[in-house]
Amino acid sequence: MNTTVVKEKMSESSSLKRTHISASLTEASVGQEVVVSGWVETARDLGGIIFIDLRDHKGTIQVVADPQINPEAHKVFEKLKTEYVIACKGPVTVRPEGSENTSIKSGAVEIYPTEIEILNTCKVLPFQIELAEEVNEDLRLKYRYLELRNEHKRQNILKRHKIVHAIRNYLNDENFTEIETPILSKSTPEGARDYLVPSRVHPNNFYALPQSPQIYKQLLMMSGFEKYYQVARCFRDEDLRADRQPEFTQIDLEMSFVDEDGVMSVTEGLIKTAFEAVGIEVEAPFPRISHEDAMKRFGCDRPDMRFEMELVDLTEVMAGSEFKAFASVAKDGGMVNAINYKGGAKLSRKEIDDLRDLCMSQDYGAKGLAWITYKPTDEEGAYEVASPIAKFFKEEELAKIAELTAAEAGDVVLFVADKAELVQHVLGKLRLHIAKQEDLLDPRDIKLVWVVDFPMFEWDDKSKRFKANHHPFTMPVVEDLDKLETDPANVRTSAYDIVFNGIELGGGSIRVHNTEVQKRIFKALGIDEELAQERFGFLLEALELGAPPHGGIALGLDRFVMLLTGSETIRDVIAFPKNQSASCPLSSAPSCTDNDQLEELYLKLVDPS
Ligand code: AMO
Ligand code: AMP
Repeated sequence: MNTTVVKEKMSESSSLKRTHISASLTEASVGQEVVVSGWVETARDLGGIIFIDLRDHKGTIQVVADPQINPEAHKVFEKLKTEYVIACKGPVTVRPEGSENTSIKSGAVEIYPTEIEILNTCKVLPFQIELAEEVNEDLRLKYRYLELRNEHKRQNILKRHKIVHAIRNYLNDENFTEIETPILSKSTPEGARDYLVPSRVHPNNFYALPQSPQIYKQLLMMSGFEKYYQVARCFRDEDLRADRQPEFTQIDLEMSFVDEDGVMSVTEGLIKTAFEAVGIEVEAPFPRISHEDAMKRFGCDRPDMRFEMELVDLTEVMAGSEFKAFASVAKDGGMVNAINYKGGAKLSRKEIDDLRDLCMSQDYGAKGLAWITYKPTDEEGAYEVASPIAKFFKEEELAKIAELTAAEAGDVVLFVADKAELVQHVLGKLRLHIAKQEDLLDPRDIKLVWVVDFPMFEWDDKSKRFKANHHPFTMPVVEDLDKLETDPANVRTSAYDIVFNGIELGGGSIRVHNTEVQKRIFKALGIDEELAQERFGFLLEALELGAPPHGGIALGLDRFVMLLTGSETIRDVIAFPKNQSASCPLSSAPSCTDNDQLEELYLKLVDPS
């Protein structure tokens, strides 16, 4: 072995230049003199010999110091602590038989360095990198750069890169042009609160950060680009959840001279490509379900189709029954629905009561939960009915309930009666709750579905007016145009949502390209001409200057990557996410600013209380 040259100079530039990445070192490299560099992931002292797993961005390589072979190298290794940054030079040697590590790419070889350079030291870490998952989220986010040293966490970001790369390639091949649209912008119509940026040059005026590039991408169609895309950062000030962040990224598309099928088929190709980037095959075209059917069958406009447990309408059966609570709801225009909880007869009375309490909680809002248990008897397939409400039903009614819900021995059927929307809301949520409880949601099972024929408007009880379900630039279904004035509640649109295992992955529509229709929509929304001009005048004008028919879609990239990596929240797949209270523990944003800056912007603070 040559004399070891050891350098511990951190201030000077490194003299050891990396020649190889850990993962590239295999048996074929044996005998080569290489330089590797990275972080000390672990250091183990086994009978005096020190083994180090040296980590770089592609994996780890084992470097070894044996005091018998190279006492100087061993002395340096004794000083090395976790997360020190080092470079090592030496010949690649084959590992002794039996000590290979098949779980890493360089597992057949190791290096006994002849030169070692300590490039930087590391203080005691706030948490152990390999245990990052167990640490409280705010601490992890404060040291997000350390958390990302964790192999698993880093993989999420690497996969995100791979997915975006594949999507860009796909869209480029499909002749789309990537175009950036402004971030300092004007309020856009996606329905959340805007983030505002005060203007110094125009006192008392504000830019709005885009909730989406919606208007600009439509304007690009009017410029004649025909096929646009953008990996677009969007900003929405809304309540956060596991799949919502105040800033997030959309894969945003727009195309001219297309119909729904055109946009949907490009999107299917894009989704297929993204899946392939992580090694998963999916079959396209994806099934379609109307909004109305999704609500009726799954109680939800983003149905999780990995399991059945569909809602069954029993309103007619109940209308004639002796069970007053249900009969009166049925007669008053309400709805009685049930779901069949397969195998639910095993539940104790307390467990059923817990389900009832859940349904009656504020979040669900039901007035009660009735049930019929089909208790198996000794005879194969036979059952006895147990239920506090069965006594109100005639034999034929019980038979009809069992037939419609396909109840069998071992099941429990759960009923809710109320206004249609509430019944669907409660049973839609209960269905998912039971599926989670019963472990029916296999993340490897992938169910993609298009939800189509959305209603154009949604009644907003608070403001007592209609709101656009998607956005006001969505083209109504042509046959329903006449209803814009007479029956707005029943106008359907050309909007489509793509749903992945119960999560809304994306949504889009064919747009209005005709000023007259656009004005009628604003009118139905109670947006008068003056307000429409003030907010969207530039778009209305553009519609009159040769606008082609066009349509598009936006997919939530963060949600897509979350689902493709099996992550629980989109925070896991964003390099520097905000926490659940929309702040950044790392940079402490948002934060106060000094008076000079406020003065320059003509702003004064008020006491929030
Ligand atoms: P939409 O508002 O449905 O449509 O948004 C498209 C997709 O963006 C994702 N998304 C979010 N992801 C993370 N955090 C959020 N706060 C958040 N909000 C939305 C969702 C959603 O499906 N301009 C239209 C698209 C169009 O019509 O072309 C739009 O923005 O995955
Ligand atoms: P009651 O006759 O009010 O004691 O109710 C009998 C059963 O029906 C109880 O299990 C209640 O939870 C249930 N129930 C009452 N009202 C409703 C309703 N609107 N929807 C579903 N179940 C109900």
